[in-house]
Amino acid sequence: MLEGGTFGDSGREIVVEEKMEGEEASIMLMVCGRDYVMLPASQDHKRVGEGDTGPNTGGMGAYAPAAVADESVLGDVRRNIVEPTLKGLAAEGIDYRGTLYVGIMITARGAKVVEFNVRFGDPECQVLMPLIESDPLELMYGIARGKLDNSGVKISDGYAAVVVMCAAGYPGSYKKGIEISLPQDSDIPEGAWIIHAGTKSSGGKILSDGGRVLGLTARADTLAGALDKAYSLAEKTGFAGAHFRRDIGRRQLLRDSRKAH
Ligand code: GLY
Repeated sequence: MLEGGTFGDSGREIVVEEKMEGEEASIMLMVCGRDYVMLPASQDHKRVGEGDTGPNTGGMGAYAPAAVADESVLGDVRRNIVEPTLKGLAAEGIDYRGTLYVGIMITARGAKVVEFNVRFGDPECQVLMPLIESDPLELMYGIARGKLDNSGVKISDGYAAVVVMCAAGYPGSYKKGIEISLPQDSDIPEGAWIIHAGTKSSGGKILSDGGRVLGLTARADTLAGALDKAYSLAEKTGFAGAHFRRDIGRRQLLRDSRKAH
């Protein structure tokens, strides 16, 4: 690689990184300079296959709040990641206003940063929006104008889950333009939504237009309830070759049931 130029300029340098072992969680912050609101922690499922197997994808499903990021982890994230980051941005003269996505690994030695993004996570955003009871647009518009009213941000006590329905072959090559069959509005339960990700409308039909096609999303009082609703919506929705993971949130459900016994 170094001598043969296999990867061009990218192959001229070796970077040795710490291997972080643990469970990942996504922390989204709404930032207005040095002020911020931390939205509920969520957890994405990045591998295509059940049991976290197979290649990485853009995200096969998520749920929030993710109990794995408990109060102690969130305190650690605030103190050791968020506050130094916002201080650093301010020190560089950056008046950052918007979403800050901190991808963390919860290791035996505390929370470590996997990545920062200056956008919402996808599909994490799909489970955060149903949990914000106040108007998210007002929050964003206020931040854009330099005003963040923490007390005006109301987060629901419930849970939300999203199951991502993908095209056959995704995350490898896949076909587009496959007709999607959607349930009637009256068959969509209260507190559930079909979010179009990779679709288009053509000739009065809804067709697939991407690898991750739909997000079957639901909110309920419990995680199990939100997952049940999202999966029942997935069963009523489809297109040729559609696939989705059937174990979104399962690790958390197992932890909950172990705790209950
Ligand atoms: N869910 C991963 C991402 O949005 O980057």
